Amino acid sequence: MKSARLFLFALAASHLAQASEVTLTLPPESGVYKAAPGVELAAANCLMCHSTEYVSSQPPMPRKFWEASVKKMKDKFGAPTPDAQMAALIDYLTTNYGVPEK
Ligand code: HEC
Repeated sequence: MKSARLFLFALAASHLAQASEVTLTLPPESGVYKAAPGVELAAANCLMCHSTEYVSSQPPMPRKFWEASVKKMKDKFGAPTPDAQMAALIDYLTTNYGVPEK
């Protein structure tokens, strides 16, 4: 009896040992906006409702798109971005997640 229990214990232990060797590779998710001038605006205004992926997963878009996005977040969803910070925030998004104006 004792040896059977010992065997089960050893079996369980070897399974645990195997399980601990499994490695998972997750896609990189930094959770922070790119460090660049204006990042503090994005951190203060664009992190309270959703992750940076909502921004970083967009294809590179022109300033008009970012302007419309920030306005939508503000007017429709209630992002607390002060009017005085809108232009700088839109500049930051266009520079770091978009394409510059032609
Ligand atoms: C008050 C909450 C809130 C804040 C603050 C907020 N968002 Fe959003 N955002 C949302 C919601 C809700 C959605 C999903 C909308 C949908 O599913 O259509 C979203 C979606 C998005 C999308 C995906 C495209 C889209 O229009 O649905 C982008 C890009 C985006 N947000 C950018 C931003 C940026 C940039 C900021 C900072 C200015 C920001 N968000 C701040 C609530 C917010």
